[in-house]
This record gives sequence, C-alpha cells and structure tokens, in this order.
Amino acid sequence: EKGTYPHYMLKEIDEQPLVIRKLIQKYQNENGELVIDEDIINAVKQADRLYIVAAGTSYHAGLVGAQMIEKLAKVPVEVHVASEFNYNMPILSEKPLFIFISQSGETADSRAVLVQVKELGHPALTVTNVQGSTLSREADYTLLLHAGPEIAVASTKAYTAQLGVLSILAAVLAEAKGHTLEFDLVQDLGIVANAMEVLCNAKEELEDIARKFLSTTRNCFFIGRTMDYYVGLEGALKLKEISYIQAEGFAGGELKHGTIALIEDGTPVIAISTQEQVDLSIRGNVKEVVARGANPCIISMKGLETEEDSFVVPTVNELLSPLVSVIPLQLISYYAALHRDCDVDKPRNLAKSVTVE
Ligand code: M6R
Repeated sequence: EKGTYPHYMLKEIDEQPLVIRKLIQKYQNENGELVIDEDIINAVKQADRLYIVAAGTSYHAGLVGAQMIEKLAKVPVEVHVASEFNYNMPILSEKPLFIFISQSGETADSRAVLVQVKELGHPALTVTNVQGSTLSREADYTLLLHAGPEIAVASTKAYTAQLGVLSILAAVLAEAKGHTLEFDLVQDLGIVANAMEVLCNAKEELEDIARKFLSTTRNCFFIGRTMDYYVGLEGALKLKEISYIQAEGFAGGELKHGTIALIEDGTPVIAISTQEQVDLSIRGNVKEVVARGANPCIISMKGLETEEDSFVVPTVNELLSPLVSVIPLQLISYYAALHRDCDVDKPRNLAKSVTVE
C-alpha cells in the first residue's frame, strides 16, 4: 500500500535507506561479518570470467557492479544487454559464470539467455527481488535483494538494492580470493544509508532543480565519467520513461565525438561528479557545453564541490557513490514528470515486467 504517498515511486525512493540497512542485516552473520552462501562463493570463485546479463535499470546496475567486482575481487567481468546477448553471444571464456540481474526475475530477454546458458552447461546466479521467480528457479543459485515489492514501473529501490548486493558479492569474493579490503563495507554501507536519508529529505531543493532545468525542455543530457557515467545512463532512463523528455546519458569524453552538436541555447546538461580521478575532466566537459549555450546542472559529492554546483551529495566511499548519486536523479525525474502531469507510476507504453522477447 502506498499509504499517504501520492505515488508508489516516491514511497519506494524513500524506502531506500531502510532497504540498505535491511540488506546489511540479511547478509551479516552472527559476528557481524558479511557472508554469502559458501556454494555460491565457491562457484563464483572458480570462474575465470563473470558475465552479467540484464535489461534496463538492472543492466545499469550491472555496469556498476562489474566495476565493484573487478576493482575489489580482480576478476574480469563483462556486462551485456540480455536482448543482444541472446542473438550475438560473444566467445566465452573457459570457465564462465553468468549473473542474471532482474528485479522481477521474469524478464523474457534474460530468461532466453539463461536457457541457452543452461544448454551450454554453464553455472548461473540470479540476483533478484522475487524469490521463486522464473530466473531464480531456473538458475543454479539466487541472491535476494530483500527490497520488498516494487510497484512503480520506474525501478528505484531495486536498483540501489542490486548495487548493495553486488557490492557485498564483490567484497566477499575479494576476501575469498585472498585480497584484503582497505575499508569496512558494513560501515560504508551504513554511511550510504545515512546519506540516502539526507537526500530523501532534500525533496524541495530537488523539486526546484526539476522546475528550473526541466519544466519546458524537450531534451536533456546526462554526462559523467566512470561510475558517474553509469549513473547518468540510469538518470536518463528514469527521466525519459516517466516524464517523456528525450534524455540520453553519455560518457563525458564522448561528447566531442558527436553529441555536442545537439547542444543549443538552454539545453539542460546534468553532470555528475563523485569520482576524484575524473572530477577535473568532467568539469572540463561542462565548460565545453556551457560554451555552446547549455544550461548546466552539476551534481557533485561533498569534498569535490565548487560554487557552480547545483546540488551536492554527502561523501561516501567512491565505489558506492552510485547508491547515493542516483537519488537526486530519481527525485528530479519524479518531479519533472509530476510538473508535466504524467502518470508517474504507470508511464505510457510500459509494463512493470517485460515478459515478451
Ligand atoms: O525486472 P527486471 O529488473 O528484469 O526489469 C528490467 C527492465 O525492464 C527494468 O529495469 C526497466 O528498465 C524499468 N522500467 C526501469 O525503470
């Protein structure tokens, strides 16, 4: 039930701090250590390469998850759009393991890949919110999101829960492989949950940003580099699916290879900067679009902020920054859709689970 909330989407955005806290508990043992079923970790440990297969928002979570796993566990990871992989399977490594990420566990495109993978005899792990879902039943292993039912078509809390589970998988796998982590994930996810709470309390400010940048525009660009690029893809998907504003996410460095031609006077460009290594580069990209008339909205992380920024998220572990930087993007999309009188929870032409290929 959505209770006093006008929309499920807003309720589900607000649930995110709790979802992350619950997730930590669900994956903790009695000593407070993060654990994953031994069979699962052994299977993942034996793989020489992981293949993440997903669609939509879950694909975007996969892009971030792959970075977490590569950085912490030092295992190569490929991320694929399910509907493409199905028809265009790359040459696989000798010992692949497949990770299907799906909120519903019912996405037909992902299932079609799982069927092929099983025929080839490769192990598969499903990361899903729905116990007993098709993808969960048909894979060898399941990791649950524990996010509670997600009703709004626009996925929000499932995305952050997927990132939470993938960060736990990355950390536990890293330790199983003998790599020492330089941070305490339980503590850092706790910091993330607190930061999420701060962001959920910044609704008025984010509504103003939506009004200022998106009330009349027909299009909007999201730019970022590395992790921020992946979050930008998710921000663009969120905005387009519920507000019908044409939105695209780009890697900052790609702008000059084509997209910058689309920048006109007043075009909103939302730039995300949470990664110290690429902060200067993305700010350079902002200057390039501003010189062509863009209306820049910079969302940065505390510690990297400057006076020109429109919104600053609290500091968290850089590897976990997508869990927090996505929240202003979710809320900006929500308010942009609201201001345009769109049906936020049930956008046109879309279904909650896509059960056809
Ligand atoms: O249930 P799944 O995670 O497999 O669904 C995948 C996509 O259909 C889904 O994420 C879709 O992109 C959402 N509407 C995004 O908000």
